[in-house]
Amino acid sequence: MAKRLFIVSNRLPIQIEKNNDKLDTRLSSGGLVSAINSYLGSDVSASYDAVYWAGMPCCKPAEWDEVVAALPGSDFTYLPVFFDKKNYERYYNGFSNSSVWPLFHYFPSFAEYDRDNYSSYQKANAAFADALSAQLRPGDVVWIHDYHLMPLAAMLRQVMPGLTIGFFLHIPFPCFEVFRLLPKQWQHDILSGILGADLVGFHTIDYATHFLKCVEMVLGYENDMHIIRYQDRLVKADVFPISIDFAKFNNAFDDQRVADMRNDLKKRFPGKRLIFSVDRLDYTKGVSHRVEGYRRFLERNPEYREQVVFVMVIVPSREYIPKYAERKKLIDELIGNVNSKIGTLHWQPVIYQYSSLTFEEMLALYTACDIALITPLRDGMNLVAKEFVASRKDKRGVLLLSEMTGAARELTSAIHLNPNDVEEIAANILLGFEMPAAEQRMEAMQARISNYNVNTWAADFTAQLDIVKTKQKEFQVRFIDTRDQRKMVSGYLAAKKRLFLLDYDGTLADFSNSPEKVKPGGHVRGLLSALAQDPFNEVYLVSGRKGEFLEKWFGDLPVHLVSEHGAKIRMANGHWQTLVQPRNEWKPQVMGVMEQYVKRCANTFVEEKDYCMVWHYRKADSEQVKLRVRELVAELQEYARSLGLQVVMGSKIVEVRVTGADKGTITRNHILPGKWDFIFAAGDDKTDEDMFRVLCGITYAFTVKIGPEASFARYNLLTPLSLVSLLESLVRSADDHSPVTQMRHTLQEEEPSANNA
Ligand code: UDP
Ligand code: G6P
Repeated sequence: MAKRLFIVSNRLPIQIEKNNDKLDTRLSSGGLVSAINSYLGSDVSASYDAVYWAGMPCCKPAEWDEVVAALPGSDFTYLPVFFDKKNYERYYNGFSNSSVWPLFHYFPSFAEYDRDNYSSYQKANAAFADALSAQLRPGDVVWIHDYHLMPLAAMLRQVMPGLTIGFFLHIPFPCFEVFRLLPKQWQHDILSGILGADLVGFHTIDYATHFLKCVEMVLGYENDMHIIRYQDRLVKADVFPISIDFAKFNNAFDDQRVADMRNDLKKRFPGKRLIFSVDRLDYTKGVSHRVEGYRRFLERNPEYREQVVFVMVIVPSREYIPKYAERKKLIDELIGNVNSKIGTLHWQPVIYQYSSLTFEEMLALYTACDIALITPLRDGMNLVAKEFVASRKDKRGVLLLSEMTGAARELTSAIHLNPNDVEEIAANILLGFEMPAAEQRMEAMQARISNYNVNTWAADFTAQLDIVKTKQKEFQVRFIDTRDQRKMVSGYLAAKKRLFLLDYDGTLADFSNSPEKVKPGGHVRGLLSALAQDPFNEVYLVSGRKGEFLEKWFGDLPVHLVSEHGAKIRMANGHWQTLVQPRNEWKPQVMGVMEQYVKRCANTFVEEKDYCMVWHYRKADSEQVKLRVRELVAELQEYARSLGLQVVMGSKIVEVRVTGADKGTITRNHILPGKWDFIFAAGDDKTDEDMFRVLCGITYAFTVKIGPEASFARYNLLTPLSLVSLLESLVRSADDHSPVTQMRHTLQEEEPSANNA
């Protein structure tokens, strides 16, 4: 089957403009388009049979046809998504850029909460979903980009549950305290929309952690090493710092047009030191603080006056949004002020251009300047910083970079600065000018960008997407249907050495808020007894409970008892064997920590067992306890590693246990070697996943997770009651095939003919 890639973003790489009734196109600006364009311009076609780029061209279909017919060939096929103008305004200028953009960049006071805008945002995403669904086929890969399209993955998932979907966020994901400023329903929709994807990518570990925290606080899903078991799937959130085409920028240094422009610049500003910056017009870019910082530098260092020129290019962006238009006015005034107050008849301190640059112009400026002054107040990544570094084949130039950018995480050899601090900007400009060439540290930064360039970024993301998809297959929710049940019964009947591994709480019996009060019902005892009496069967009750409980209620049955998740075993003959030596030296320390949490969180308690200590929070306030669980786990993990312990989050419990006392280890080391030809294992909790993982891939192992969540078990059943009736049907099937029953059936069949005779 042909492998097809669908890139999906709000903006297409070209923009259509109507000038005097004539349709013109120009290249779109911004980091997203730059990166995807570079990626698609590489040899991506080698990995896919066809590549599409879906986006909103903001014109009528007939206009699009006219424009696209005149375009030169591209590395992909355009998939235009048409949408009405009024809703587009609300979706793009409204919710995307006046709610999400300011909030996610930590400008909460700029954020608007308008329900009509939000509804148009949902409609725009639905328009994308409709347009894509009309094209998509099973096996296609969809890669959705950015904050305009956060609900889209879930919409597509609904239509095509098996689709491979990646989502990448190009802007910061804010901390929970900021995210929660959105109305609750929107928080919920945004997060569950993103979780429609299989893989969710961010530029930095902070953004990924914030996202995972929000998922936990808003939707109640925890993660295990960045993997969320979400509904019937695994979803991974990971870090992929976007990058650039290093070679293109590095080689451009020697391009003749670039070199000519660079020489022109030098001639235009003879003997002057140059500072350069280029950004879209955006309040997040910190332009006014930057101009103030430069002004302070000139005030503090008058000897530099007339020796320096700051070339500042601002690319028009989102001009219809009032906050952007205001910014334009403010910047014009600020620059006018510096030029008129500090400039002279012979010297203009700031050369300001409000329009976009060609690639060659930009490269000439990157390679001619002494300092690149990049000071966003907040920026998801900032590709300009990486482009500047890559372009300096001469290994010269100083990067002054805001510590609030994603790029600062990677470009650690740049001079980092706080973009709000005008004095710090001024001091660092001086430092930059005075820095000897040997200290300019371009090499290390160039090595990083050339090693992890835009193709590495995309290959890393798509490879991870494949890995998640494979993992999901091992981890699917699949409810047992009659065909599965028939297969199970025939396997059972054909087998002569059958193994049953059954958890108790939540598996054979409903979960109780007071586990100590649970009395196993006669029904379950009867079932266990019937199963165990079959000479072909061996039944293990594999529980987290203490031995005393298991012995009290099941000691008289011919079943084997495994207590404390596998620390001890009691064979049906009544003899207890210790598999993991108890150790107590760690307990006082862990008890001390857990007791603190009992005080801090009402209705929780600690249970001490031989091999583990358990903090139970079943009866606690669910909102309050979420935070405490995370804190406790983080605190316990510090002890755990050094003390040879494991911290496990189970169903409403946090457990610390001695390493090795788990259901996986006992299954693998002590029970499986018994040579079986039919295995049946059932459990409901995270601790049972250890057992399921060990049994994964054994063809004659039927593993059943009780509950609707995804699991390493092959099948799911919803309740203990349904498990009990499944086990009863196995017992009955064997009875039906027993020699006595067979004889009875034969006699019954023969009876009518006897009467007839
Ligand atoms: N850029 C552009 N045209 C210009 C100036 C800049 O296409 O006239 C590109 C620049 O090369 C960079 C991108 O726009 O790749 C800006 O990306 P960045 O991540 O720095 O900021 P964003 O605009 O995405 O917030
Ligand atoms: C940022 C966003 C992109 C956006 C770009 C330009 O990089 O992450 O999604 O395309 O800015 O903004 P614009 O509103 O012009 O698309």
